[in-house]
Amino acid sequence: MKKMISMGLRFEDAKLLVLDQTRLPHEEVWVDCRDCAHMAELIKTLAVRGAPLIGVAAVLALAHMAEKGASKPEIIAAAKMLRMARPTAVNLMNAIDQVVLDKPDLTTASVISDAEKFFQADVLACEAIAERGASFISDGDHVLTHCNTGGLVTAGIGTALGVIRRAFEQGKKIHVYVDETRPLLQGARLTTWELQKLGIPFTLICDNMAGFLMSQGKVQKVFVGSDRIARNGDFANKIGTYSVAVLAKFHGVPFYVAAPRTTFDEKCDSGADIPIEERHPDEVRAGKSPHQAPVWNPAFDVTPRKLISGIVFEDGML
Ligand code: MRU
Repeated sequence: MKKMISMGLRFEDAKLLVLDQTRLPHEEVWVDCRDCAHMAELIKTLAVRGAPLIGVAAVLALAHMAEKGASKPEIIAAAKMLRMARPTAVNLMNAIDQVVLDKPDLTTASVISDAEKFFQADVLACEAIAERGASFISDGDHVLTHCNTGGLVTAGIGTALGVIRRAFEQGKKIHVYVDETRPLLQGARLTTWELQKLGIPFTLICDNMAGFLMSQGKVQKVFVGSDRIARNGDFANKIGTYSVAVLAKFHGVPFYVAAPRTTFDEKCDSGADIPIEERHPDEVRAGKSPHQAPVWNPAFDVTPRKLISGIVFEDGML
């Protein structure tokens, strides 16, 4: 395989390396991914996370396996196993199906070249999303975002955060409000880390501050990413996105989604069909509650289309 490098993923010198996102922002540790079972573990534990990136990482792991001489049946078995690593982000299934499971005339060589093409297509999709999305951000806007949707979660510059980045690069004077994103703090740990590197001004807020912030007229746009978009435009994203969308509607703040086509699920008619991952209770207890406190921990929620001003894809708007 040729050399491929993104913010959170590197294939070089016959090694597939991933940046362990659970250790950011304080430690930048690259993990050498041994095989597909290891990659599935890295995805489950969120060392590798974000909808587009888990798809890209999975197909690179399969291609790496092919390159090391695995047989076709072994690759197919690994593909089926990786497909189940996380249930909500359809990019994972779409990537694996496209490169392996739905591939006519599958060969080990096709897995390698298709994985390389998939990586490159994601880079280009991010660029196109950023260009289109940035036109919705005006000079002087304060933009609120939820979770982490930047270079860490794609092969390219990201989705919602890529849009924000492009608007900043165009010279627009913008300010970003970053939801901390309970329970795993992707906003507080990762989005702030990316924005700091890019030199984009931001303010971190707790999730429960967004409503008060909007009530004071301090947010002009909301941009978020997505893990799965249904045919009718309902979409799933990190838990808390729905609350932000409701608040945005109440305060008349335009609410946009930015995502590549690999996030679209033509088999889902509406948000009701989207499977929602539930994660371990300790993520919510966070060492602060009684050890056995009952917990509900859905990792994602569904926002109905009526709360969305627009969905920005690489090839158009919904
Ligand atoms: O559980 P995570 O951290 O993988 O969730 C990520 C998100 O919800 C992102 O907002 C989504 O994947 C869009 S990223 C382009």
